Amino acid sequence: MAHNPLAPEWLSSPADANTLAAGLWPQSARRTDGGAISIAGVSATELAAQFGTPLYVVDEADARTRATELRTAFDTEFARVGTTVKVYYAAKAFLSTEVARWMVDAGLNIDVCSGGELAVALAAGVQPARLGFHGNNKSLAEIDDATRVGVGTIIIDSAVEIARVAAAAGRHGTVQNVRLRVNSGVHAHTHDFLATSHEDQKFGVVFEDAPVLVAAIRAEPSLNFLGLHCHIGSQIFGVDGFAESASRLLSLHAELLVDGPVPELNLGGGFGIAYLSTDDPSPIADLAAGLADIVAAECGRRGIPVPVIAIEPGRVIIGPAGVTLYEVGTTKPVQIGQHSRLYVSVDGGMSDNIRPALYGADYSVRVAGRVSAAEPVLVRLAGKHCESGDIVVDADYLPGDITPGDLVMVPATGAYCWSMASNYNYLGRPAVVAVSDGAARVIVRGETIEDLLARDAGVSTGSTTGLGSTTDARTTDGLTENMKESNR
Ligand SMILES: Cc1ncc(COP(=O)(O)O)c(C=O)c1O
Repeated sequence: MAHNPLAPEWLSSPADANTLAAGLWPQSARRTDGGAISIAGVSATELAAQFGTPLYVVDEADARTRATELRTAFDTEFARVGTTVKVYYAAKAFLSTEVARWMVDAGLNIDVCSGGELAVALAAGVQPARLGFHGNNKSLAEIDDATRVGVGTIIIDSAVEIARVAAAAGRHGTVQNVRLRVNSGVHAHTHDFLATSHEDQKFGVVFEDAPVLVAAIRAEPSLNFLGLHCHIGSQIFGVDGFAESASRLLSLHAELLVDGPVPELNLGGGFGIAYLSTDDPSPIADLAAGLADIVAAECGRRGIPVPVIAIEPGRVIIGPAGVTLYEVGTTKPVQIGQHSRLYVSVDGGMSDNIRPALYGADYSVRVAGRVSAAEPVLVRLAGKHCESGDIVVDADYLPGDITPGDLVMVPATGAYCWSMASNYNYLGRPAVVAVSDGAARVIVRGETIEDLLARDAGVSTGSTTGLGSTTDARTTDGLTENMKESNR
């Protein structure tokens, strides 16, 4: 079939618009005999019936396996070059107490970047020593809490934080491990990286300022300098950007070794995942091997010991494990010249997935409740918000008989969707359900109308909305029937 010019160049009409592309979906995703998509043995139709839509669904075994496989790959490759690796799960990608425990079970530490994330990790029972604390503007209260509870490391992000962290640790009578976040001048995104000599961004300190700042850290008796930290970007598919950054960091690391110990080097996160069938990120084992080779070679060249390496992946662990389930509300064909596109509007949108609007991120979509032999049509999956930029999937092909009431699923939404969700237009944030061995359970309940009204100081005690939002009307996910029917 001729290419529809309304579709991007890379997207052609598929022979079968029901296929689940390899690499995009949780490993357990498949079509049931009835045609519905199932994740970990639970079908989309069961999920929608039990929990309503929109719904975030996380394949527990998939997330746990990715965490374990990543840690094992890095352990193995860095053992080969004579050192160890500390893997921190970047909680900003997705954090709940359950997920924090999955990560700890897999042998990972947790990287938090606010008092709220710290609270969730602690509520999960994560030992404070396993936590790293980030942020370019940690409040005094956050620094105080972090030092008081004994977080393992604090990543210092600016000169002014040195005295703040030192004072807080001093108050609590502890010696706080710290890293210094520097800008290596390397920016990476997907296939490309850009190396500059100067940085114009809010995170980290200027590379050239690091020796003076490390001396200031070392002069504080309540601080223990662990090493440098650098995070070069996100959605990085290959090893080259990390290689350039590691090389620059190790030159600085070697310089710092002259005046004292530098036991560790933190290379940050950013390993990419496939959002589209055309995406081809390097396998984690290859990235681990490539990074180990580079770090070993750079240390060898400088005659310094290979430090303990720390990394902070988030997306690559939880992103592919999650999908979002929506129900189609309306469809609307738009004819542009000789060609047409079908707008398919769902019951969520930019409030549950801001990434397309924020970064122009691409996703794909499949009908989730059935298969269809209808001719594929070019669709744009739109949300229900009052923004024309409220698009979840810019372009994909779905069977042409897609109709209101159909369920659709968007894969690879496990990272930076729920964690960036909002209440725009007063939509409640959807529940998160974990699926495992044919069973589903809520790990974060969805927000009710009562939740949405709870912080409004003008709502008088006992006032009712007439929307039927009573405890009795709630289903197991905490959503009201009326909310499912009329508000979502
Ligand atoms: C400092 C730092 N570490 C780790 C990460 C995690 O990145 P990713 O989820 O892409 O692996 C981020 C993401 O923004 C970050 O800023």
